[in-house]
Amino acid sequence: MCGIVGYIGNKNTSEILVDGLKELEYRGYDSAGIAILQDDKIEVFKALGKIKNLATKVDDSKFKIQNSKFSIGIGHTRWATHGKPTELNAHPHLGEYSYVVHNGIIENYKELKEELQNAGHKFVSQTDTEVIVHLFEFYFNQNNDADLSFAQTIKRLEGAYSILLITKSQKDKIFFMKHGSPMAIAKGKNDDEIFFASSDAPLIGYASDVVYLEDGVSGVATSSSLTFSTDVSWTTLPDSKQFAQKDGYRFFMEKEIYEQSDVITDSMMGRITDEEIIFDEIDSNIINGINEIKICACGTSYHAGLTASYLFERLTKVRCSIEIASEFRYKEPLLNKDTLFIVISQSGETADTLEALKMAKDAGLKTIVVCNVDNSSMTRVADTTILTRAGIEKGVASTKAFSTQTVILWMMALAFAKQKNVISQEKLKSEIKTLREIPNSLKVEDSIHEKCRRLSKRYLHGHGFFFIGRDVFFPLALEGALKLKEISYLHAEGYPAGEMKHGPIALADPELFTIALMPQHLHYDKIKSNVEELSARDSTICAISPLDFDLADDFIKTKPANHYMLEFFEMLIVLQIFSMEITVRLGNDVDMPRNLAKSVTVE
Ligand code: G6P
Repeated sequence: MCGIVGYIGNKNTSEILVDGLKELEYRGYDSAGIAILQDDKIEVFKALGKIKNLATKVDDSKFKIQNSKFSIGIGHTRWATHGKPTELNAHPHLGEYSYVVHNGIIENYKELKEELQNAGHKFVSQTDTEVIVHLFEFYFNQNNDADLSFAQTIKRLEGAYSILLITKSQKDKIFFMKHGSPMAIAKGKNDDEIFFASSDAPLIGYASDVVYLEDGVSGVATSSSLTFSTDVSWTTLPDSKQFAQKDGYRFFMEKEIYEQSDVITDSMMGRITDEEIIFDEIDSNIINGINEIKICACGTSYHAGLTASYLFERLTKVRCSIEIASEFRYKEPLLNKDTLFIVISQSGETADTLEALKMAKDAGLKTIVVCNVDNSSMTRVADTTILTRAGIEKGVASTKAFSTQTVILWMMALAFAKQKNVISQEKLKSEIKTLREIPNSLKVEDSIHEKCRRLSKRYLHGHGFFFIGRDVFFPLALEGALKLKEISYLHAEGYPAGEMKHGPIALADPELFTIALMPQHLHYDKIKSNVEELSARDSTICAISPLDFDLADDFIKTKPANHYMLEFFEMLIVLQIFSMEITVRLGNDVDMPRNLAKSVTVE
C-alpha cells in the first residue's frame, strides 16, 4: 500500500500535504514524511508511526512557509515492504539535490542499486525506492536535462509504482509517473494550484477537476502547466468525503472485493519470476528435516489455511494438518520439532492464534506467520513473517485478506516443493503462469455483479443455506457460508458435497437453498452427482460453474479457466458479491455487522 500526495501552489503547502496524508492514513501508517521546496531551500520532515506524529513535528519546528509565495511539496505515508519502518526508510528519499515519494515496489531495485553504487552513489536506506532518486541524478549529472533524466529513469524501472519527484535543479516542477499503483491529479479550485494523491480523498474540498491516471502515463507539472505523456480525461470530483474514502463504492466491503485484483499483484510482486518463487523472508533450508506442516488460524484465515492444507500436501508431499486455534490451545497437542508451524492472521492480534503460536514456539518448532499487519503481535513472536500486503481491510467481513492469504500460501507450497525437489521445473513454470492469471480471475465482471444482485431477491427466505464443494472448494464453501451469515444473519453452513448424504440431505426441500460450487477442473462428475441427489429431493439449487448445468434452479456462469485455482478465485468473487447483495436487500449494515469485531483479542 502506502499513500502519496503532492502540491504546487501558493497556499500552506505543509498543511495541505499533512492533511492529505491523514486522508490516506488507511493505506499505511508505519512512518510518514514530507519535503517542501521554496526558493532554494528544501525542508524535510519525517516521523515514525501515525500522521499525527509528523504533524506535531512540523508544528514544533520553526519552519514557516511563506504563503504568498509559490512552493512545491511531496508527501508519503508508508506501509513497509522493503526495509523496516524507520525514519531512514521513510519517504521522501533524497539523492544529492532531489527527492522522491513512491507507492509500489521496484522489482529490479537490487540490480539498479548495485549499478549505481558502482557509479559512486551512496545509499542510506534499505528501501527499493531510493534507487529512483539516484537513477534520476545519475542521468541528470550527465545530461543536465531534468525532463530527459526523468524519462530515462522511469524507463529503467520494473514493477509497480506511482512516483512524484522534485529536484532543486528545476525548482518549479513535480515529475510524476503512474504504473500499477494509483495516482490522481487535480486542478485547484483557484488557478495556479495542482494536487496529487493516491486516491481522490485528499483532493476533495480543494480541487474541482481530476484525472485518474492510467498505467504508463507520466508527465510534469508546474503551477501554470500540466503535461501528460498521453491524452487524459478529466472528470468532476465528487464533493462528499465519505464517498471518496470508499473510492465511490457503497461499502468498504464492496471496495475491498473490487480491490482484490490489484492487491494480489502487490502480494506477488518481487516474489515471482517466470522460473521461480522467491520469499526473501524464508530461510532456504526451512523445509529440511520437516516431516509435517501444521497450520493454525481462526475465522476466514482458518478457511485460507484449510485451502492451503490441500495444496501443501499435494505439492510438497509433506503431511499437512490444520487446526482451529481455540481448539488447538486446549487439546494438549503433541508437538514435534520436525513440524513446521504456520499461523495465518489478517490482524496478527487474534488472541487464540497468538497463543497457539507461542505454544509452538515454546515447544521449539519452526514458526511462520502469514499476516497482513506488520509489527503486529504475531509478527514479533514468529521466527518468520510473510506479509500478505492486502492493505488495510476495513469491512468486518474479510475479503481481500482471504484471497491474498490463499495466494501467498499457494506460493509457499510451490517454493517448499521446489526446495524439496518434488516438483518438476516444467510444472513449477506452469503453476507460476497460472498464478499470474489470478488478478484477472479476481476482476469483478459487471455481468456477474448484476446477476448476483438480481438473484439476491430469491434467496432471502427459506430455512437455510448449504454451500457445498469438494477438495479446495469445500473450504471455499465454508468461506461462502461464513460471509453470508456474518452480514445477512441468515443461517448458512458449508459442507463437503460428498458428505451431504450422511445426514444433512434429510433437510432437503424447496426451502433449503443449496449453493453448489462446480468447477470444471476438479472432480466435476463427483460434485455433479452430489448436486443431482439434492435436486432429486427438491432442494432449490443455485449452481456456480463455468459449465452449463440443467438441473439448477439458478445458475451463475463463471469464466472458463484452465486451472482449478483460477476457478476458485472466480467463484470466490461470486460468493462475496452474492452475500453482500443479499445483505443490501435485507437492509443490514454491510461493513459493521452486529456482534462482530474486526480483530478479536480475547479468547
Ligand atoms: C474475526 C474477524 C474475522 C477474522 C477472524 C480471524 O472474527 O471478524 O473476519 O477472519 O477474526 O482474524 P485474523 O485477524 O486472525 O485473521
